[in-house]
Amino acid sequence: MSLLKAALAARENAHAPYSGFAVGAAIRTGSGAVFTGCNVENASYPEGSCAETGAIAAMVGAGARDIAEVCIVADTKAPISPCGGCRQRLAEFAGPDVPVTMATVSGDSVTMRMGELLPMAFRTARGV
Ligand code: THU
Repeated sequence: MSLLKAALAARENAHAPYSGFAVGAAIRTGSGAVFTGCNVENASYPEGSCAETGAIAAMVGAGARDIAEVCIVADTKAPISPCGGCRQRLAEFAGPDVPVTMATVSGDSVTMRMGELLPMAFRTARGV
């Protein structure tokens, strides 16, 4: 299954009753495994989480750490890009050359590298 198809399938499960804005995300790891996530909103709005955050949690929970490719999808005219917080979360496991494809349900897409989306990602001296 393509990464876009995986992200589209995850998007179908989004819990977005407050914004009405469903997002799907899919991550491929260096070993080829695919993990997906969708946004999960909450009646207490700030407690909601992004699709990328869900996909990262699924990956880490399964013992994987190395992101090789990312795809996110929403039903918009133009592709959406990951929010600032998710850029930092992705950068924890994705190097600057990792491609991030931002797609629409209708088939448009743009691909940028992680380092373009988040130059100078924050890392501590203890970063792994
Ligand atoms: N959202 C994501 O899931 N990923 C992003 O990169 C941007 C925003 C979600 C959060 C919220 O549930 C909805 O989209 C509207 O902001």
